[in-house]
Amino acid sequence: MPFLQWSDEFSVNVREIDEQHKRLVGMINTLHEALVAGRGKETQGKIITEMVDYATVHFSTEEKYMRIYSFPGHAVHKAEHDGFVGKAADLKARVDGKGFVLTINVLNFLKDWLQNHILVTDKQYSSYFNSCGLR
Ligand SMILES: [Fe+2]
Repeated sequence: MPFLQWSDEFSVNVREIDEQHKRLVGMINTLHEALVAGRGKETQGKIITEMVDYATVHFSTEEKYMRIYSFPGHAVHKAEHDGFVGKAADLKARVDGKGFVLTINVLNFLKDWLQNHILVTDKQYSSYFNSCGLR
């Protein structure tokens, strides 16, 4: 069983966004495997950097659709993304520094944030986007 298991419950009914979410879930699992296998700091840092960069790409996809379709919750949603980007930038900076140690706490934070963000915040645009013809 992966650290974070994708299920249909996570679907926001927009194919492109579901695919991006699946990729983020996969990246968190890859990072967890690296921790469990005791892979080196360099490998872990590489995965973290890739994941943080991809999260930024993903957020801009969602924000693009919120803008195009004038989603009423855009500002609140974007603020949540920005909060994560701030924390992720800290994490990235620590990875680049000397004393960084990846812990299960970091992984739990990433897992809980993504899970909660998809299930609570992303779900709020799901039917709105669908009604605009985005699937
Ligand atoms: Fe989002």
